[in-house]
Amino acid sequence: MQNTGFDSRLHRLEADLEEALAVVYPNQQDLDVWLTRLVDVARRAYEARPDTLKALDDRREKADLNWFQSEQMLGYMCYPDRFAGDFKGLKAKIPYLQDIGVTYLHLLSVLKARGGDSDGGFAIEDYLNTNANLGTIDELEALTADLRQAGISLCLDFVLNHTAKEHKWALRAAAGEKSYQDYYYMYPDRSIPDQQEPLLEQVFPATAPGNFTYVDACKKWVWTTFYPYQWDLNYHNPAVLVAMLEKLLVLANKGVEIFRLDAVIYIWKELGTPSRNLPQTHALLQVFRAVVSMAAPAVALKAEAVAGARHITKYFGSAGSRKRECQLAYHNAAMAALWDSLATGDVRPAAEMLQALPQKPEGTSWIYYARCHDDIGWGALRDRQGAGWGASEQHLNYLWRFYAGEVEGSFARGERFQQVPGEAYAGSNGTLASLAGFEAALDANDDEAMDLAMKRMILMHAVPMALDGIPLIYMGDEIALLNDYNYDKNPGGQDGRWLHRGAMPQDFEVINTPHAVAGRVMLAAIKQLVAARKAMPTLNARNPVHYLPVNNTHVLAFMRTAPEHEMLCLANFSGSEQAVDPEFIQSILGSHVLDKNPLDDNSIAEWKLGPYQCRWLFKKN
Ligand code: GLC
Repeated sequence: MQNTGFDSRLHRLEADLEEALAVVYPNQQDLDVWLTRLVDVARRAYEARPDTLKALDDRREKADLNWFQSEQMLGYMCYPDRFAGDFKGLKAKIPYLQDIGVTYLHLLSVLKARGGDSDGGFAIEDYLNTNANLGTIDELEALTADLRQAGISLCLDFVLNHTAKEHKWALRAAAGEKSYQDYYYMYPDRSIPDQQEPLLEQVFPATAPGNFTYVDACKKWVWTTFYPYQWDLNYHNPAVLVAMLEKLLVLANKGVEIFRLDAVIYIWKELGTPSRNLPQTHALLQVFRAVVSMAAPAVALKAEAVAGARHITKYFGSAGSRKRECQLAYHNAAMAALWDSLATGDVRPAAEMLQALPQKPEGTSWIYYARCHDDIGWGALRDRQGAGWGASEQHLNYLWRFYAGEVEGSFARGERFQQVPGEAYAGSNGTLASLAGFEAALDANDDEAMDLAMKRMILMHAVPMALDGIPLIYMGDEIALLNDYNYDKNPGGQDGRWLHRGAMPQDFEVINTPHAVAGRVMLAAIKQLVAARKAMPTLNARNPVHYLPVNNTHVLAFMRTAPEHEMLCLANFSGSEQAVDPEFIQSILGSHVLDKNPLDDNSIAEWKLGPYQCRWLFKKN
């Protein structure tokens, strides 16, 4: 009898699943029982999967399993309420997204979060329902279908490290039910928390110091890496893994195509260790990948691994067909490195780091971005272990000061994030436009400064669009949205990241303030970049990136190489014109080079780059 798709995938993936489970639970007597439970979860999810999604699975399995690598991909992320009001409003915005060329939409803060402060929606009370102000889960399902129809895949956060303290498991744990207390890390007194605390990082040292919270109702301490109302889940208990996978697959069957696995570096805790990036974390992700691939192969997992640069590639898993983890991962190190280059005008540290990182494995894509809803964390640049590169503490302190506008000559208007009195280290908040100098230029009514700021904003989009992954636009950056200085009036307004989570103006297309006009120019420039990207198959993420040393410290240079084409990207991170040695370019591309700079049709007479200019040079092999 012909195997169903599920059975053949089970046959292919079961050994992976078993092997990964054995790493996570080496002492579990009844591993077979859990293996059977997980396969059962996958099978039931597959059986419940709507036909249209099974058809998508088939299409992608047959022809396009690496669909997310295509140069046609363009991501956009937003808070639905701040972008469009609710799910209905979002449907009405589909033409806007299509017009930009978006094929992947990441909606933040959709699943039912606790009331009041919820860490921007990352404290989930109910994974299978949506926030009431947006609409119902059925409306979300309908929206995924409308988006798919328009060629857009929906991405949602799957917050798997913790639940809200109002989640029903947490309520039952607090009420004293032992079996639910085992869903979390709970301790009767401070002895374990006191031993652990010095080993752990503080994610929010200013607004949520410490990693453990006292729960009065049950007189226990619970592990809380983030805010005290976010209780870390205990994956040492296989029941947690099974229950979370079940929820993820219900959402996959509603039509979610990409899951952003939130705060993934923390999901496994081991006493006596810093409990970040542990081998079991990777094995757990292998379990997630195997189960999801069995039940819903069209779905991709995306790692939000905010870790040192040397760690992030590992979240793809290994290069072969075994031990696979996420298909997608944020390149937070590249993001921070681009901002570093923009502040100093010197690309050498960025190039050195990016060059030193391993190529990602086949069948994967990076997510490249300039801004997102979080702060710019500079920690990724500090990671020097074993690599011979890495920024000094002094330099990192320079960077957040620069972006807080505290350095003489800085163009930026941002704010420092989570700095503890007496300690130097901080992150940086602010929108792309405010950090890139547009806000200050607008206030000063300085046309020249505005022009330079626009060029910086375009550069910060142009480089991600030429790299080996999906470029992601953060809501409002495409129209030069400025910081929201009223953020402290929002729920959770003590958390400075709300500075760059302002609402999208609904009237920018029709009003004629200098800001709105500049916003429209920016949007037009981005559309041109997107169109140029989509016309270049060389930019498919399967084609590797090679960073090249150039004889100019302001110019980041990298090659994209495909069998039929080669592309050289040159990006000037300084505010003045820069020359590039013609021999360097000719040695790489030969003399018949086409200038594919989408923002400048002139052919290159001289090998020069204007202030903050990015050029894409192209050659047919
Ligand atoms: C991720 C989110 C961030 C949130 C944290 C805890 O890093 O991007 O916004 O605060 O996880 O859920």
